[in-house]
Amino acid sequence: MSSFYVTTPIYYPNDVPHIGHAYTTVAGDVLTRWRRMFGDDVFFLTGTDEHGLKIQRAAEANGITPQQMVDRTSAQFQETWRLLDIANDDFIRTTEPRHYAGVSQFLQTVYDAGDIELGTYEGLYCVSCEAYYNEDELVDGCCPIHGRPVEHVTEENYFFKLSRYQDPLLHHYAQHPEAVQPDSRRNEVLGFIKQGLRDFSMSRTSINWGVPLPWDPKHVTYVWFDALLNYCTAVGYGTDPQKFERYWPADYHLVGKDILRFHAVYWPAMLMSAGLELPKCVFAHGWLLVGGEKMSKTGLNQIAPADLVAEFGVDGFRYHFMVDQRFGPDGDFSYEAMLARYNSDLANNFGNLANRVLTMAVNYCGGVVPDTRADGPLVDAAAAAFDGLRSNMAKLDFSSGYGAVWELIRATNSFIEDEQPWALNKAGDHAAVAAVIGDCLEALRIVSVLTCPLMPRASAELWRRLGQPGRPDEQRLPDAAGWGLLPAGNRLERGAPLFPRKEPS
Ligand code: MSP
Repeated sequence: MSSFYVTTPIYYPNDVPHIGHAYTTVAGDVLTRWRRMFGDDVFFLTGTDEHGLKIQRAAEANGITPQQMVDRTSAQFQETWRLLDIANDDFIRTTEPRHYAGVSQFLQTVYDAGDIELGTYEGLYCVSCEAYYNEDELVDGCCPIHGRPVEHVTEENYFFKLSRYQDPLLHHYAQHPEAVQPDSRRNEVLGFIKQGLRDFSMSRTSINWGVPLPWDPKHVTYVWFDALLNYCTAVGYGTDPQKFERYWPADYHLVGKDILRFHAVYWPAMLMSAGLELPKCVFAHGWLLVGGEKMSKTGLNQIAPADLVAEFGVDGFRYHFMVDQRFGPDGDFSYEAMLARYNSDLANNFGNLANRVLTMAVNYCGGVVPDTRADGPLVDAAAAAFDGLRSNMAKLDFSSGYGAVWELIRATNSFIEDEQPWALNKAGDHAAVAAVIGDCLEALRIVSVLTCPLMPRASAELWRRLGQPGRPDEQRLPDAAGWGLLPAGNRLERGAPLFPRKEPS
């Protein structure tokens, strides 16, 4: 069994979860569930990034301690992931003792390697990003991401010798072109490295909310240095070497484009310094925009996942963000577009297909599965759906992957229109009716298997209505995508519509 380790960013709990956070987390979950169906030993990690100035200030503004603040909001992230059926294996909080143990070990290793030195930092800092900027990166004197004023900081800090890693990083990316995806992001990273890398400040004395440096505890670790290490400490770095050996290096770090530089420049350099392997792929997606703007606490344009789940259900939520929003470029979120696609793809195509096939099977075939034809006309469409999903999932193109599955749904609906089983039934041609319905039910079984990573609930319900034992997520691919596996004689259940049509609210 091969291991497969997927991570999301760990979110800042100064804020409550919104659909931007959910976007990455659902993507990680779909990938996780997909790989589990191939029998991989998948480890899916998410969590919260609990140190730093941003959290300290948010706590002060609320009149509570940073610890109280993060306890409260970290729990909200965990609740949201439960609501969205996220099957994470762990949830790391950077305030946990296991994280401190790993961070301390890592810091000492990098310090002993001579890659951390004392210096004086003077420059510009954006608290919202928890990042430094050069004068020329600012837009109208403000942070290019948050559009807020930066702060002038002078401090005695320890510096990480990033400049030493310029050539090793370029060499690494030349050897492993797949290590940053999509390609446009890789070019961005290479461009940044080629401009020249400066050492970065990795400690603070002006705050105390962080992990103290083992050799100089007046300093706490810079929040990004500590945060990136979550990917290692969660799988046992510093506490459980066997587990670390089993899962490291990560197969995918899924991140938003705004934090690519940290993941594709700082992080691999830190790992090289500690003598650890580098992640196989950092995949950066775009932003979900609302009214053309990135969602932000200050912009008051945040949308809570729970509000959309209340209206579209968990599966409807997951479908929209994975299929209607491409994973890579920026995408505009609109309620109207979500509603339109829900009605067309889920209510009319998928839901209606399940409903009409099961209804006909109950009315014309006594509610029992007839035989499937080995060479039925849907065999090729079913194979194409699986191949299309598989090849696109390998590129994290969820939208095209599930587009291929929806081709099978459409092909099955057209097949019914062409064959008109109701007319065959009226003409008393029971063998022909059974052949058509048997093929449609088999197509539905395959749709249930393939939609399982994306829409676990509807998939399991369809599986049950097809009279299948167990659950679709227990099936193993590629075998379960093969044609002709629905046993004749299974008892069927018609059930209520899987996706009731919605009117605008
Ligand atoms: N704590 C850091 C990450 C540390 S990882 C070692 C952080 N946290 S964050 O909560 O601000 O953002 C986490 C992720 O959410 C980022 O990948 C960011 O791109 C993503 N998103 C936040 N708003 C978003 C959208 N509007 N759209 C899509 N993703 C967005 O950065």
